This record gives sequence, C-alpha cells and structure tokens, in this order.
Amino acid sequence: MCGIVGIIGVEPVADRLVDALRRLEYRGYDSAGIATLSSSGLDRRRAEGKLNNLASKLAGEPLEGTIGIGHTRWATHGGATEGNAHPHMAGKVAVVHNGIIENFKDLLEDLARDGYFPSSQTDTESVALWVTREIERGVSPREAVENTLPKLRGTFGLVFMFAGEDQLLIAARQGSPLAVGHGTNEMYLGSDAFALAPFTNQITYLEEGDWAVITPGKVEIFDFDGNHIERARQVSSASAALADKGNHRHFMSKEIYEQPETVSHTLAHYLDLAGETVKLREALPFDFAKLSRLTITACGTAFYAGLVAKYWFERYARLPVDVDVASEFRYREPPLPKDGLTLVISQSGETADTLAALRYAAKEGQHIAALVNVQESTIARESHVIFPTLCGPEIAVASTKATTAQLSILASLAIAAGQARGVLSPSDAHALVRALIELPRNISEMLRSEGRIEEISRNLSRAKDVLYLGRGQLYPIALEGALKLKEISYIHAEGYAAGELKHGPIALVNEEMPVIVVAPSDELMEKTLSNMHEVAARGGKIILITDAEGKAEAGAGIDDIIEMPRVHPFVAPILAAVPVQLLAYHTAVFMGTDVDQPRNLAKSVTVE
Ligand code: AGP
Repeated sequence: MCGIVGIIGVEPVADRLVDALRRLEYRGYDSAGIATLSSSGLDRRRAEGKLNNLASKLAGEPLEGTIGIGHTRWATHGGATEGNAHPHMAGKVAVVHNGIIENFKDLLEDLARDGYFPSSQTDTESVALWVTREIERGVSPREAVENTLPKLRGTFGLVFMFAGEDQLLIAARQGSPLAVGHGTNEMYLGSDAFALAPFTNQITYLEEGDWAVITPGKVEIFDFDGNHIERARQVSSASAALADKGNHRHFMSKEIYEQPETVSHTLAHYLDLAGETVKLREALPFDFAKLSRLTITACGTAFYAGLVAKYWFERYARLPVDVDVASEFRYREPPLPKDGLTLVISQSGETADTLAALRYAAKEGQHIAALVNVQESTIARESHVIFPTLCGPEIAVASTKATTAQLSILASLAIAAGQARGVLSPSDAHALVRALIELPRNISEMLRSEGRIEEISRNLSRAKDVLYLGRGQLYPIALEGALKLKEISYIHAEGYAAGELKHGPIALVNEEMPVIVVAPSDELMEKTLSNMHEVAARGGKIILITDAEGKAEAGAGIDDIIEMPRVHPFVAPILAAVPVQLLAYHTAVFMGTDVDQPRNLAKSVTVE
C-alpha cells in the first residue's frame, strides 16, 4: 500500500510534502518520511507511527530544498520502525516505493557479491542499492534506473531523487498507481490526484510499465523497452479540501450519520424519483436480458455487498451469479463466458486484488462494469462502464457509507435486470423501487437507536469472541458485522449462515459468548429465530437485530434487542448494515482503539 509523493519546485518543499502525505495517510500510517536535496546534499527525516510524529520531528529538525520525495508506509517487509521507513537512501540515490519487490532477496544476494549491503529489512532497499551500483559503475541516473527496472519483479510505484540533480525526479509504475501533476515551473508526483489537488488539477496518469523522467515543466514517458510514450494530460476533479469530522469524534461516526443523505444522493442518480422507476444513465455495453451469468468480484466489505447482490440478482432477475473474493478469483482462473459480465466493486478503485481480477476478466473477453467511489481510480479507468457510488470521500478505514451506497446501486441494477429479463412486472419493480426510495428515511430512524446500541456495546466490549448469525440475504450482513467488529475493536468475531451453526460452530457457544442475530422479518425469519433459540438454550447471550414483528415473534430468552424500522425485505440488508456499523463503532470506542485508523490496516490495499 503506502502513499508516495514528489515535488520539483521553486519554493521549499518540506511542508508541502508533509501536506500531500496527510492526504495519502489512508494508504498506510505505520511510519512516514521525507527526503530533500539542498545545497548541503541529500537529507531525510523519518519517524515511526503517524504522520504527526514526522511533522513534530521536522519542526525541530527542518529540511531545506526545493526538490523532495515523501512516503507514508504500510509495512510489508520489515517492521514499522524508523529504520525501515522510507525514503531509503544509498550512495547518491533516495527512493520511495509502494508495492512489493518480490525478488529482493535475489537482488540483495547479487549486490552483496559486490559489497553492497542493506541497512534495513525492507524489499525497497534492494532497488536503492541496485541503482546506486549502476551509478557507481559510471552511468547516468537516468540510465541507472532504466537498467534497473527490468531486473525488478513484483509491483511498484517508485520515485527516485539523486544527489547533484536538483532538476530531476524519475518515477516508474508497475502495479501501483502514480499520477504526475503539472504546475507552473513545478512538477509533482503522487499516488493519486487527491494528494496533488492543493498544487494542481492538471494530471497525467502513468500506465502499467511506464517510467517517467520529470524535470521542471516537463515529463517524458517511456516503456520498459525505452520507447517514448504519449500519455494524455487530464483535468482532475479531486478536491483540494480535506474532509473534516464536523461535530463527530471520529470520521467513522460522521460517515455513519451521513448515510441518509448519501444513500438518497446515490439513489437519485439511479432512480427516476418522480416516476418511481430505475433509470440508468450509464450506456450499458451489455444487455441484461442476454446474460447467462454474472460474475461479481471484490474484497472485504465490498465482497459482502456483492454477496447480498447475488441474492437479489438470482431472486429478482433469475440471473445466476458467481461471487468470489478477488484474491481467489484471479488465481482460480475460472472459465468465463465470452461477452459475459463481470462486476467489480471497490470503494477506492485501487485494491490490487480487485484490479487483477478485473484484468483477468477483461482478458477473458468479459464486459467489465465497476462500482467505484473514486472515479479517477485505476479500476474506474480500466472498466467499460462505471457505476459511481457518489457518496463522497470515505476517510475512516472501516467502510460504512460506501457500503450502503454500493448496496443501493446493486439493488437498483437487480431491479433493472429483473425488468429486462421479464422476471419483474412493472408493479413488482415499482414496489421494490418504493422500498428503496423510503430507505433514507428508514436509515434516519435507525440512527435514533444509537443510544441503545451504545449501551449494548458496553457489554460487547468485554467479550473475547462474538458470533454473528444471518440467513439468506442477511447472511452477508452477519459476515459484514463480524468484519466491522474485528477491524476496529480487535475483538475476535465470526459471521455464520444461521443454519450452519449446528454443523460445528455451536460448540463454541457458552455463557461468555455474545451472539448477534440479524433477523428482520421476512420469510426466513422464523427459521433464523429457531437457530437463535438453539443458541439461547446453550447459554449464549443473544443480541437480536430485528423489527417490531420479529420482536413479537422472538419471545423470551433474548438478552438485548435492537429494533429496526419495518421495511420491505428487499432493502432489509441495506438497513441492517447500519446497526452492525454502530455496534462495532461503539464497541471500539469503549475499547479505546484508534477507530479511524485501526492497527495494521490501510484504507486502500494496493498490495496482494
Ligand atoms: C472495510 O471496512 C474494510 N476496510 C475492507 O474490507 C475494504 O472493504 C476492502 O479492503 C476493499 O476495499 P475497496 O472497496 O477500496 O476495494
């Protein structure tokens, strides 16, 4: 993962590098560093932990120079220490890297034979040393990079700076995104256009296998064979404003509370609100009526949104759906029907596994549709049609408003498919659209239960393990609830299909074990409630998320109930996502964890 930035400027760069890194902290926050080149040569400052530690260090030990590079790290090779933080320096070279150099051990072995040894445990230092050896053998920095790139295996976004070269940065991309920003007498590099938004909106994206020589006012781009490549300059719409928390203690809470508005905004794009029908503005390169199968692939929470969509497309459009986590899909090499449709779902649009799955499906001749929040992301740029989630920047690592936006679009698409395939009559479709239109109001009402959920979370924060149960289209919400709890509270949690419990996991149930049952009223509720009673009979502490009907049905033996507004079963998974978010949020607050930037995680996962 990691965020990288570079500036060739006419003004001092150190503060601006740190500002740009602040906008990239979502990519990793284990450690950070910058290096600049001034009349006294190359120098760097690095610090373990969040970017503020680096900023404090720089306040005491400032760096001069009008050219520099910076990095915020999500550790892959080597612990999150200052010594492993980037930039890495060797001889005349300073480098920042996003990705993984898979053959770094081979490179280091080769370098050791010539007396070049690393001082960190990172894969990146092998690149700094290799380029250094090239330079010390007598070639120019540019040739040194050109000679080095073909030796690297793995993924990289790299930016190099060289002692004695205050007008030169060299960047390379293979698998990790890089944007070049054009300024007036200045040039910029960043992992995304958002990092560069305070400086410029004029962006050239490097494509896979590009490397670029950047001098003030100029970028020359080449492929790895040295051929000159033209890449268009585009106007980025990334906002220079940094999101703030408003009155909320955390971004996650703010984003949970934005959902009535974000879902409404997203639905307004996909529905004709006056006519109460689905109205897709996107030109579809495929016909839902002719599809024999839909493939959905994504990671984490986005994958669970895809799992819910499977229930919707199969039930309401009679369209068979395969859903797979992208990291498995890409290596399974599944046969895909030519002219079929693969739908990828990604908030960031940069998730490495999802991108690789997309590329595999595209190679197989599939139409690629992407649900993305970041519309200038690599996934967006490589897809044939984009369904934007339109929920605004999501800052907290735990996805909330992007999830409900994804689900809202998937529901709209399932209705469109159902109509195109002649499965849904106009009146059936109308009933489903009405349920979606009412959703923002129901989410607002759901949020009024926050006080109750906070009380329940106090007990939950004392648990060591938690089970989540759901059935049918609520099963993915059980999985999502468990993921959300794990990632921000660090409490072990598992989601299960309610009917699976008796095939093993019920052995875990005892008086210490909270079991969260997601069962708003639908035709499967009774069955889920039976499974719930099986747990209660074995002493498990039941927290039931249901509506008034479910509450009446549930009977005695329930420890806590979180009541949802009664909605059409079609939209129940979208609404039920909200209480599981709030439960995780408040539990994490009680645990005192870093809610918005939980340990070991990053918002955008750009390594395999
Ligand atoms: C969600 O809370 C997680 N942080 C994570 O599972 C996330 O959904 C996953 O990494 C996929 O990210 P993407 O949507 O940006 O592709």
